[in-house]
Amino acid sequence: MKFPHDFLFGAASAAYQLEGAWNEDGKGMSNWDEFVRIPGKTFEGTTGDVAVDHYHRYREDVRLMAEMGLESYRFSISWPRIFPDGGGQVNQKGLDFYNNLIDECLKYGIVPFVTLYHWDLPLALEKQGGWHNKATIDAFVHYAEVCFNAFGDRVKHFITFNEMIMFCGNGYLTGAHPPGITNDPKKYFQVTHNVFVAHARAVLAYKRLKQFGEIGITHVFNPAFAVDNHEDNLFAARHANEFDTYWYYDPVLKGHYPEYVLQQLQKSGLTPDWDPQELADLQAAAPQNDFIGLNYYQPMRVEKLHEVQQPIEHSRETSTLAPGKASFDNVYRTVKMADKIYTKWDWEISPEGFLDGLLMLQARYGNVKIYITENGLGDEDPIIEGEICDIPRINYIKTHLIALQHAIEKGLNVKGYYAWSVIDLLSWLNGYKKQYGFIYVDHNDNLARRKKASFYWYQHVIATRGAELQNQ
Ligand code: BG6
Repeated sequence: MKFPHDFLFGAASAAYQLEGAWNEDGKGMSNWDEFVRIPGKTFEGTTGDVAVDHYHRYREDVRLMAEMGLESYRFSISWPRIFPDGGGQVNQKGLDFYNNLIDECLKYGIVPFVTLYHWDLPLALEKQGGWHNKATIDAFVHYAEVCFNAFGDRVKHFITFNEMIMFCGNGYLTGAHPPGITNDPKKYFQVTHNVFVAHARAVLAYKRLKQFGEIGITHVFNPAFAVDNHEDNLFAARHANEFDTYWYYDPVLKGHYPEYVLQQLQKSGLTPDWDPQELADLQAAAPQNDFIGLNYYQPMRVEKLHEVQQPIEHSRETSTLAPGKASFDNVYRTVKMADKIYTKWDWEISPEGFLDGLLMLQARYGNVKIYITENGLGDEDPIIEGEICDIPRINYIKTHLIALQHAIEKGLNVKGYYAWSVIDLLSWLNGYKKQYGFIYVDHNDNLARRKKASFYWYQHVIATRGAELQNQ
């Protein structure tokens, strides 16, 4: 099957993970610029200070993307580059950088797909309570409007937030991301609500400004499946999907929170503080939301917990979705299964879970427009006789693209696929060792760029629109 002509083949990145230039041209500090300096927070103390120097090398990088045949490039804007203090004075040099990057993409006919928030919050806002403070909602909407006005003539695809569950969960439950708070479900749910309101108000602002493009949100897509057919474990999977999927997707696509989770929150005194206007805005924004972006890496295999599992020490390794953890409410835990295949970082490889999960979404939300905004394999790529032989990555992407072909055949409205990541970049907690890119960055040779085997492979997939995937 060929992917249709209006389906975008792309690849993705995020500002903090590749730009570097952390304190150049008037950029302010972000919460991550501070967090990575706390000893023990990141693998071997790695930071994004220089990252892969994309800020200075974006022309070379976009040229390589064009050579690969990329139809679209998903990247994020660093809020503290535009507003060094979160609000107030705009930093013109920040706008200039993204204007240049957008123009460079368009020069080659590459469609820019822009994420407004991929986790780097201006530090000034974090110091005032970050996403727990409702003033951050207004600051975000203002920042979003400035971006729509500055870039909207050429950018027709905006994503408000990347993976709320990650920055809310790791920020307020595991402590692995800024602001580093642990085990505070009350704050966690409040923060998720505040971010939903920020998303909704940015969508409404986008439509008010008559931008004539698309706006949506990107969520982790981590469907839960029971380890077996025992009714306790089937219940655990339903519970996990309610809390980790429906809690995130319902407010965006249906305009209200899922009833089951609301009841549980009420029982345990965790209902967020909200006012009628906020709830009305969620409702008003849902039909205006143009698409949902899914970041799929793996499913969750879950079993019911019968006793309270002692909270495990959250570390870099255990907080990055490797199985073995109890849910915050101790209802279930994720499990590593003997008959499944895992990456070196213990993430399950499951194209079947991808397809089954997509069908689960279709059953709940109908044929909403979907972009796969991230999917890929984190690995340590072998270099054999000078060639970067990332064959496992090729297999990973190939099997997931085939799953997507089946999903489209079953009626799912998927309009694009963005591999994570276009180039090797900083893994937030796993340093530069965990590679995802089509383009290799040589940290021993002045960050020189080199094409991997997957670069040529993806080039061919794009050129043939996936027609040969199932025969390879
Ligand atoms: C997603 C993020 O969670 O997964 C990316 O949007 C991230 O920013 C990617 O890099 C892979 O995660 P990790 O932990 O393997 O780098």
